[in-house]
Amino acid sequence: MKLKKTLFAGIAAVVSASTLLGSNVASAQKDWPTKSVQLVVPFAAGGPTDTIARLIAVPMGQSLGQTVVVENVPGAGGTIASTKVARAAPDGYTIYIHHMGMATAQALYDKLPYDPMTSFEYIGQVADVPMVLLGKKDLPANNFKELEAYIKANGSKVTMANAGPGAVSQLCGLLFQSRMGVRLTNIPYKGTGPALTDLLGGQVDLLCDQTTQTIPYIKDGRVKAFGTTTMKRLPAIPNVPTLNEQGLKGFEVKVWHGVYAPKGTPQPILDKINAALKKALNNPDVKKRLEDANIDIVPAEKISAKGLKDHLDREINVWGPVIRKANIPD
Ligand code: MLT
Repeated sequence: MKLKKTLFAGIAAVVSASTLLGSNVASAQKDWPTKSVQLVVPFAAGGPTDTIARLIAVPMGQSLGQTVVVENVPGAGGTIASTKVARAAPDGYTIYIHHMGMATAQALYDKLPYDPMTSFEYIGQVADVPMVLLGKKDLPANNFKELEAYIKANGSKVTMANAGPGAVSQLCGLLFQSRMGVRLTNIPYKGTGPALTDLLGGQVDLLCDQTTQTIPYIKDGRVKAFGTTTMKRLPAIPNVPTLNEQGLKGFEVKVWHGVYAPKGTPQPILDKINAALKKALNNPDVKKRLEDANIDIVPAEKISAKGLKDHLDREINVWGPVIRKANIPD
């Protein structure tokens, strides 16, 4: 009898503890966020991904009622940050912005400590950014034809900056070299922010970079633009021909971005982050800043878990064969 009583008391205690735990979890999700949220960026500060992150972080923070703090975790073309986020607590206080490197990494690295299709929750796509093949101001070549001749004459003496294996600058640069049938000296940085600084300083010859912060430098002649990676010329720099029209048929790289959270982040929290992201991308200042850099905000239906996951899946299948065919890296 005594044993029965003790047993019942024990069960009651377990039941009420788990009810309490359940209600604590529910209220933690309902009250989220009660402190600042970290938005991880896989490249150095001052680069394209960092710029988009900081642009959306402010209005997202305003919607959520807590600051969204950008944390740069550069290295290994974004895979260090992806690993960190995949292993972070799924409590909504760590979120992540990454570009199409999320889709290309599997084809570039033998073994990744995370799986792009299963280690994350998907919040939504953000924006598509074109790229431009840039040269330092003092490069003797003034147009694509002259660049071709210069590269043929100088081969591996020509240097090309990138943000490491998995970075789109590296992908674009190596695709360019593969199409030209040359091998230049590739110099990795922790992001194209510092790479662009060195291009402006004349320490490196070439860089394939996103338009996020390059347009003003192209317009005022501080860097030379040899071609865009788009099928049509960009309205912000209409005098710059596409690489496609200059002989590199079908050369197209458009850099898409997505926002993620660690796997297991509760759905009510993901819904709040998604609503804040949508609102940020509708913010007039954000829209204007992106428009000026020829960056396209994705249609509303793509700012969703399904929109991002389906796109990632498709892109993994698109880029895997391209990377293997181009023998990247060698
Ligand atoms: C960056 O933010 O530095 C870039 O997105 C790096 C790259 O992928 O080229």
